[in-house]
Formats: sequence, structure tokens, C-alpha cells
Amino acid sequence: MSTQANAIAKRRTFAIISHPDAGKTTITEKLLLHGKLIQEAGTVKGRKASKHATSDWMELEKQRGISVTTSVMQFPYNDRIVNLLDTPGHEDFSEDTYRTLTAVDSALMVIDSSKGVEDRTIKLMEVCRLRDTPIVTFMNKLDRDIRDPIELLDEVEEVLKINCAPVTWPIGMGKEFKGVYHLLDDKIYLYQTGQGHTIQEERVIDGLDNPEAEKVLGGLLDDLRDELELVLGASHEFELDAFLSGQLTPVFFGTALGNFGVSQMLDKFVEWAPAPLPRATKTREVEATEEKFTGFVFKIQANMDPQHRDRIAFMRICSGKYEKGMKMHHVRLKRDQQISNAVNFLAGDRGQLEEAYAGDIIGLHNHGNLQIGDTFSQGEVLKFTGIPNFAPELFRRVRLKDPLKNKALQKGLIQLSEEGATQVFRPFNSNDLILGAVGVLQFDVVAHRLKAEYKVECIYENVAVATARWVSCKDDKMLEKLKVKAGDNLALDGGNNLTYLAPTMVNLNLTKERFPEVEFFETREH
Ligand code: G4P
Repeated sequence: MSTQANAIAKRRTFAIISHPDAGKTTITEKLLLHGKLIQEAGTVKGRKASKHATSDWMELEKQRGISVTTSVMQFPYNDRIVNLLDTPGHEDFSEDTYRTLTAVDSALMVIDSSKGVEDRTIKLMEVCRLRDTPIVTFMNKLDRDIRDPIELLDEVEEVLKINCAPVTWPIGMGKEFKGVYHLLDDKIYLYQTGQGHTIQEERVIDGLDNPEAEKVLGGLLDDLRDELELVLGASHEFELDAFLSGQLTPVFFGTALGNFGVSQMLDKFVEWAPAPLPRATKTREVEATEEKFTGFVFKIQANMDPQHRDRIAFMRICSGKYEKGMKMHHVRLKRDQQISNAVNFLAGDRGQLEEAYAGDIIGLHNHGNLQIGDTFSQGEVLKFTGIPNFAPELFRRVRLKDPLKNKALQKGLIQLSEEGATQVFRPFNSNDLILGAVGVLQFDVVAHRLKAEYKVECIYENVAVATARWVSCKDDKMLEKLKVKAGDNLALDGGNNLTYLAPTMVNLNLTKERFPEVEFFETREH
């Protein structure tokens, strides 16, 4: 294998999907600990809460004390290079969260085992489904009283429509949590409390029938045997192909806080998760191992560094290798660009990058010529697909404080929508401007940036829109009929695409029934 092919084969690029408070931050920290990016856990979390941390790059962020950035963390583990893309999750949940999932090859689903499958996880899984992304599951918080593990697996299968293959199985829970049994390795890993901040010395019992197991677990061993019998009958065996096609998820149990069960998960994760996958373009599929460089922009972040009020475009490299100073072809603008100062993201520290490979994420300084979905190549005219807009779920009407600033407002909103900060809709039958978002903080970010970058002050009003769908119909007559009958609910988005703004979900369903020839899409390709 060439050095380049070898480097690419080692890459594992993934993101974490979870409901807020399930433990994403905590497990991220433990992954960084195992990746030796940090020496002791407790630092990332502290930074999140601190008001004067380096990650507080924006006024807004300082005010809120939360991170609006999606950072990328790269670390070596077991001879692999892991790229972990952070998915904003609390108030900073946004369309970027969804779009980040279009830039990964696999995902880690973290579930709070006392709660089970929660709303946000369901939504994020829907996004993963668009590309049948392989999912590894970590059932977290075993040091608490959790729900029946078998019931948890049932719920995942039922609600998320994915088969579960338990790889580790918990022994006890809460105060009685003793450890996990590894079904594939036939080993018992014993849990020790108070070891969450560092990498633990593992206490392992080799084999379920080992007399040591009886000695340590006592009566719990019989319970475990009974449970395993049940589980093996009711669940699925791990199969690599089913995992890679997104049909089956391997399930691990543990506690992120106690840093237990994480390394067993990570070991298998880097072994099973796919190396950078081929990517679809409008014309052909691009293999990661192709000699020539290609990549696409999936996210644009403004003002990450207060010293430089610039914008950074996050690019997923799809094939080949980036080298400092190389020339890239900006396909949409039909222009070559010399890239001498791409940035990499090491747990938030932005440094200059010498080289990067397919599967890696690099940052490009954006001076206004980059948009979400832009493709870069070494000359070939290509357009990567699968980086869509997602139907917003939250809507606000924008009003200007100073009506004379209308032009600046329009310009600002169009640019911000090209960056994916928000979506803009102009209804057919009014002069309103309606903003759409999937996370509520997006509105604050837009107001803040309009003021800081475009000198426009605006206020938001509530508007009776529940959801949006992009509309298309092959039959022009039908489309005309829709425009006549439902004109009040139709609008153009920032890219002049026809959109249906439904006042209620009931209305949307009725309209779909009335106009069966019309297609209503939840995503729109750039
Ligand atoms: P998130 O990023 O998914 O929102 O979750 P985060 O890691 O911030 O965890 C949410 C809360 O759950 C935190 O408690 C965290 O300490 C706790 N937690 C995470 N993993 C485990 C676990 O395995 N066991 C237990 N018992 N708790 C866990 P918090 O009180 O909200 O924050 P903090 O004050 O402890 O920092």
C-alpha cells in the first residue's frame, strides 16, 4: 500500500449523536483521554462552564457560557487516526448539527440508560438514515439505577428501527454495578469506582466459567447467566456487513463518568467502523483512495477567533491528500485557489496544517466566496451530493428597527443563509421575511451577526408556521393549482426554491392528500 492509501485506510471519522445530558461531553472527554489528547478528565467540562475559556470566541457565547462551535478532534488510537466531529447539542443545536452528520462515516449513539431513546436521538438517527451511516451504541450511566437492559435494546430496535447486537452486557447496575461481560471475548471487566479521571488499570476475569468469576460476583453470576441466555435468544449477533449497511448496531454498556466500558467500545469502534467511504457526486462516485484531492464544505463558522473576525469553512476531504500550499479548484466559481493556510482543529486549538488525508476535516479561511456544499478538486468538474438543507422546525418573522436598512438586511440574510446560519423564506403574498432554524440559538446568532457584520438591528416576531417543505411537481398545471389554492402558504427560500410553509402539521398532511402529484421534501440539496 502507498503511504497515502495507508494513511487513508487508518482514518475513522465519526460524530456522537445523543439527547442533551445523555453524556456526550463526558464521553468525548474520555475518548480524548484514551487518545492521549488530554492527561486527565475534568478539563473539557470545566472549560464548557468557564466564562473566560479560549473557546469563548464570540460575545454571544460569552454571554451564554456555551460553545457555539463545532470543533474537530483528531487523535491516534490502536494504530488508527480518529477524527471526532463535535455535534452541537444543547441550546446550540442547529442545522450544523445535522450537516456534520453528512461529513462522517460512522456515528456513536450515546443513550442515558435511565431514560432510553429520547427525542433528539430520534431526529439525529433520521439524519444518519439518509446515508445508512453505521451506528455504534453506548448505553451510559450504568452507575445509576437504569432501566432493564433488555427493555432498552427493545426500545432501540422498535423506535429507531435498527437491530441491536449486544457486545458487552452489564453485571448489576447503580450501587451494585460490578462491570461488564464481553460476549465476543468471553471476558469479565470489573468496574472500580473513583477512577473516572484517568485511564484505569483493567481488572479482567478470563472466561465466565473461571472460578474467579464465582468468587468475585457471587450470586450475580447466576443472574448474569440467566440474562445472557435470554439476551442471546432475543437479540442479534454482531455481523460486520449488517453494521456497515446501517441495519445493526453493536451495543456497549458502561459509564462515561466512571470511564468504564469506554475502552471496550473504542477498541471495537476503531476496528469495525469504516475507513473513509466513497462519496457520491452528480456524475460519479469518488473513492477515498483516489490519488487526486477532492472535498466539500459542510459547515461555515463565523468569528471563531476574536482576534481575527474571519469565517472558517469546514471541509471534509473525500479523496487524496491536502498539502500546504497546494492549488485547489473551486468548482462552483470555476477558479483555482492556492491554499497555504488551511487550519486544523485539535480540540479547539487552531493551528496551521501541513498535510491531511481523505477522512480528515480541514478549515479554510472564507472571505465570502465559500458556501455550504461547495466542492473542491484538482481540476475535475465534480459536485458532491448529500449535503442538504434540512426543513426548519422553528420560524420567526424579521422586523427591522430602521426600515431604511432593508437592503443591508436582505444582503445579510442571503449571505447568512448561504453559510447555513439560518434559512430565509419570502412568502408569495406578503413582504415578510421569515427565518427558519432547527435550533433556537440560531436566531440569536443571526441577530448578533446582522448587527456586528451588517450594521442592521432587527427584532423577531412569532409567526404561525409549524414546518417547511420544499415543493416540486412535474405537472405544471398541478403546481399552478397549488399556487392558487394555497398561495398564502407558499414562499421562496434563499435560493429561490419553492417552499410550502405549513401553519400546522395537520394542514401539511391535508395539503399532501389534496395534491398527491406534488412532492413535499424534508431536505433540499444545495
Ligand atoms: P451532554 O454533553 O450529552 O449534554 O452530557 P454531559 O456529558 O454534559 O453529561 C450530562 C450530565 O450527566 C452531567 O452531570 C454528567 O456528569 C452526567 N453523566 C455523564 N455520564 C455519566 C455517567 O456515566 N454516570 C452518571 N452518574 N452521570 C453521568 P451534571 O450534573 O449535569 O454536570 P456536572 O455538574 O456533573 O458537570
